[in-house]
Amino acid sequence: MANISTRFFGLDLKSPVIAASSSMTGHSEQVLKLTEAGAGAIVLKSIFEEEIYHELQEELSLRSDMHSDPEYLDYFDYVIKDENIRKYLQLISDVKSRTSVPVVASINCISSSDWVLFARKIEEAGADALELNMFVNPTDVNKSSENNEEFYFETISKVLQVVKIPVSVKISHYFSNLAGIVQKLSQTGIVGITIFNRFYSPDIDIENLNVVTTDVLSSPHDFILPLRWTGILSGIMSCELAASTGIHSSETAIKFILAGASAVQIASVLYKEGPSAITKMNLEISDWMDDHGFEKLEDFKGSLAQSATSAQAWERVQFMKYFGEKAF
Ligand SMILES: Cc1cc2nc3c(=O)[nH]c(=O)nc-3n(C[C@H](O)[C@H](O)[C@H](O)COP(=O)(O)O)c2cc1C
Repeated sequence: MANISTRFFGLDLKSPVIAASSSMTGHSEQVLKLTEAGAGAIVLKSIFEEEIYHELQEELSLRSDMHSDPEYLDYFDYVIKDENIRKYLQLISDVKSRTSVPVVASINCISSSDWVLFARKIEEAGADALELNMFVNPTDVNKSSENNEEFYFETISKVLQVVKIPVSVKISHYFSNLAGIVQKLSQTGIVGITIFNRFYSPDIDIENLNVVTTDVLSSPHDFILPLRWTGILSGIMSCELAASTGIHSSETAIKFILAGASAVQIASVLYKEGPSAITKMNLEISDWMDDHGFEKLEDFKGSLAQSATSAQAWERVQFMKYFGEKAF
């Protein structure tokens, strides 16, 4: 039977199939089911600084008499943050005490000081690694792309100064020079980059004439964007790459490894099929490797990346010729 072990998050993983951060990874019992199903690692649900502040605002609105008291506000800020952090740290230590599968904490903050506070506490709670869930929505016309990018480098640098556990980042594709920024990020001392996160996106309801939210879960066709960038980026990075979004089958996972990914992070298929989706993917990847004479992932990882094939195959974007010649 083929060996499907790999390395990501700076750790040895038994499988390249990682349970991505989502509400499926926010409770110990659920996490244990994912580890039993064969996940290579678990990325816990992110702790969101925004959520903490939202909770704070709700509490404050119930206590309008106290609004103007700065000491009270400080106290409240402290208590609520502390409670959220306490619950998250408890989740880390609960899960760690019940499984040997690597447990990766995930933080999403909007200020660099709180990232650092969370990172240090997460390490103390026993997480094996840390994933920074980072996103700047580039909508502010007064900010240059360099301004937006600074946030990533400053935050990473601050976190790396205070923790010893491996740190990786999960990013979106919203960068003006994606290849350039990913290469620079990969040289900061982080151990891995996951491309790409999936976000709430707006849609329009043409019957009720309002703006709604698109499906929260990805579809199996959504793998196309991260696949192109995995093929292009995997050969120019100084750290490992994992892929996420639209990976619903072993077939798709194998494509990503051929394009140079060390691992895949899956969420939507776990909501649709449950933890057994991981077991199935592991078995099918192993069977495919046996059929193709590959003993380990390194035997085929990156063999179809741009660095091993041609720039044209990965960078071509226009349909010009194809549709120019076809008649409907
Ligand atoms: C319901 C739901 C909740 C999620 N929560 C988080 C989160 O807390 N932190 C994070 O980094 N990613 C989160 N994600 C993104 C997933 O980790 C994953 O990267 C993304 O959904 C793409 O993978 P998929 O196509 O397999 O769903 C969430 C995704 C879903 C569907």
